[in-house]
Amino acid sequence: MEEWFMEERFILDEKTIQNKVEEIARQIEKDYEGKEVIFVGVLKGAFIFLADLVRKIEKVDVLIDFVKVSSYGASTETSGVVRLDFDTTMNLEGKHVILVEDILDTGLTLKYLKELLEKKNPQSLRIAVLLDKFERRKVDIEADYVGFRVPDRFLVGYGLDYAEKYRNIPYVVELKE
Ligand code: PRP
Repeated sequence: MEEWFMEERFILDEKTIQNKVEEIARQIEKDYEGKEVIFVGVLKGAFIFLADLVRKIEKVDVLIDFVKVSSYGASTETSGVVRLDFDTTMNLEGKHVILVEDILDTGLTLKYLKELLEKKNPQSLRIAVLLDKFERRKVDIEADYVGFRVPDRFLVGYGLDYAEKYRNIPYVVELKE
């Protein structure tokens, strides 16, 4: 067994995550049944959550787009500066849009992105996050769909990285030194 797989570490196992993603998918189907929704994944972290989420949705016409922002750099602390690396490619005007993120932390990224996407005049705009590090919030923003409220620990896996590593781990685990 790997050294970081230890009991005192915070962990969300694969089954727990998949059950929760299923729940969010059912809720989104209920809210948007028969409609078309553009899911905008925030790269890089959201790519796994987005991929799992949309594959559990059948009753909604799913379109996919991405934005890419960076803020953390290669360290474990947010710099507080959000940089837009690339914007959406689809026309969001008059569309139902759901921004999909792996984690809501200080909220700076999603606040920035919400304002950016609102300027594109979507018919509706909601936010789905797998993890909510609610204790760390610096700006007033909440997600409409939240998987798990998580403690302020350094988490990796399921899209979340440390210096670009560990995104491929199929569960979420606390990284300790
Ligand atoms: C992480 C995460 C969110 C953001 C959340 O991205 O994926 O985008 O930080 O933090 P905030 O609420 O404090 O803004 P990161 O900058 O690590 O980039 P990545 O998605 O490419 O890993």
